[in-house]
Amino acid sequence: MHSSEMKSLWITISFCIAFLVIGLSPLSCVAQGAWEILVQNAGIASMHTAVTHFDTVILLDRTDIGASQVALPNGLCRNDPNDLRLKHDCTAHSVLFTLGSNNIRPLTVATDTWCSSGQFVSNGTLVQTGGDFDGNKKVRYFSPCQPGGSCDWVEAADQNLQQGRWYATNQLLPDGRQIVVGGLDSNAVEFIPANGQAPFYLPFLQKTRDSQKDNFYPFVHLLPDGNLFIFANKDSILYNYKTNTVVMNYPTLQGEPRNYPSAGSSVMLPLLASQGFRVAEVLLCGGSQFGAFLNPSAFMPASRTCGRITVTDPNPAWAIENMPARRNMGDMILLPTRDVLIINGASDGCQGWGNAKTPVLNPFWYKPSAAPGKRFSNLTATTIPRVYHSTANLLPDGRILVAGSNTHQLYKLKGEFPTELRIEAFSPTYLSSKKQKYRPIIVHAPAFVAYNSAFTITMTQRTAAPQGTLEVNLASAPFVTHSFAQGQRMLNLAVTKQTTGAGGIVKITATAPPNAMIAPSAYYMLFVVNRGVPSVAAWVHVG
Ligand SMILES: *[C@@H]1O[C@H](CO)[C@@H](O)[C@H](O)[C@H]1NC(C)=O
Ligand SMILES: *[C@@H]1O[C@H](CO)[C@@H](O)[C@H](O)[C@H]1NC(C)=O
Repeated sequence: MHSSEMKSLWITISFCIAFLVIGLSPLSCVAQGAWEILVQNAGIASMHTAVTHFDTVILLDRTDIGASQVALPNGLCRNDPNDLRLKHDCTAHSVLFTLGSNNIRPLTVATDTWCSSGQFVSNGTLVQTGGDFDGNKKVRYFSPCQPGGSCDWVEAADQNLQQGRWYATNQLLPDGRQIVVGGLDSNAVEFIPANGQAPFYLPFLQKTRDSQKDNFYPFVHLLPDGNLFIFANKDSILYNYKTNTVVMNYPTLQGEPRNYPSAGSSVMLPLLASQGFRVAEVLLCGGSQFGAFLNPSAFMPASRTCGRITVTDPNPAWAIENMPARRNMGDMILLPTRDVLIINGASDGCQGWGNAKTPVLNPFWYKPSAAPGKRFSNLTATTIPRVYHSTANLLPDGRILVAGSNTHQLYKLKGEFPTELRIEAFSPTYLSSKKQKYRPIIVHAPAFVAYNSAFTITMTQRTAAPQGTLEVNLASAPFVTHSFAQGQRMLNLAVTKQTTGAGGIVKITATAPPNAMIAPSAYYMLFVVNRGVPSVAAWVHVG
């Protein structure tokens, strides 16, 4: 440690002690969450990550990156005469990680998945689309299985995208299909399966492209009225994908551009039964200065702002909020408590190889229900930079899985910002030992709930009885890549009855989401939340 760093450390420590002595706890002094390394070497740097309803996690990189650190099973090799790096490749570029055992199993993905997109469809299969080179028009399927099973990627030769897709965003639709929006090669949307429908050209996607792009990986949220909110660069529309019409243009969001390569992130805040699921708010945080990508060696300071907007309001307006510090390449993750975690990223530069030099190691917590100015807090830092090509996913146990980070074209395991093969988990404070007594244990939840039906969850309490009404929240399992969780949504359900019986067994009656516009049919993580502490989720199929 340099003497100047030593000095600032001592100033921080003395500052904290002074605060503790007078009985205050400044946020930066109290441990706010904990980090652990789950796997030292996952074999690949995950560029795309998705959690399956079997409590396994699909990690996916790109295929044309040279040798990874994990061999394909059974001596398999991939022969690809068009692969630029390794035409005979015996290593895996996708692996399956099992929660609990932390086992890593290599998977076989045939075509290039670089900067691709995906969604889980109703039956729990991940339908994954596009990429570069031979993967540009590919559709891939991963039907998850029990841990220990042998499920793997399947590519059907006859099922292709109509347009090449690189840096596109997918969203599961109420009718069970998914829509693929934009990307480098296309200013159109298309559907999987297409069922004979040609792509719809969407001028908005073209209009939002500037000289450094800024419209890749558009932020897409399915709204309660069945329309899509699509955001690219600084602009957004309400889009009716059935008629290919723009229903409304939202005001421009002031500040920096927000999409690739400018690397903001976005969530639709949880939809609430108490509001009839009719009100949708979008929160969008971070970004990079225009020009950061054109002049990467300048490492321009990243955005410090978030925009928040009620997209279902007839006269919507952005409210601007300041984050505690600048950030780009952050991942925004909806927590089971209905709060938002902003994790990973950097405070300068932008997306792209070597385009940032100052990682942000501290996640931020955003409490949507708090008053403006009081929503953010600063959390415990990791020691591992997670910059370009890193991911974050909510796990059923309430932790956040953090994987990837590769700011190099190939695997570079030594030096500054090495290709990151370690998998970490961040445990928010709700998992601290102090809070364990509040943590609900789900004893039984239905495996399937039908729209609008009442259903019962049985849970036991630990030492502290629940106070007041418990919350029941459903979280989707998104496909996470490039600082955006495609298809992420959360629903706060109505609890109509709650009784405590013998042995502290609590029975909760909740009402399933009303329809597929609120919750497209899929597997969701069902969390019971007691005083801000979530249970381990039960997977429930909503349909
Ligand atoms: C699930 O749906 C996908 C996409 O429609 C399909 O390819 C797959 O075969 C289905 N899986 C099962 C087990 O039905
Ligand atoms: C957050 O806390 C860390 C210490 O863990 C500190 O280095 C950082 O400056 C803090 N950030 C803000 C914005 O307070």
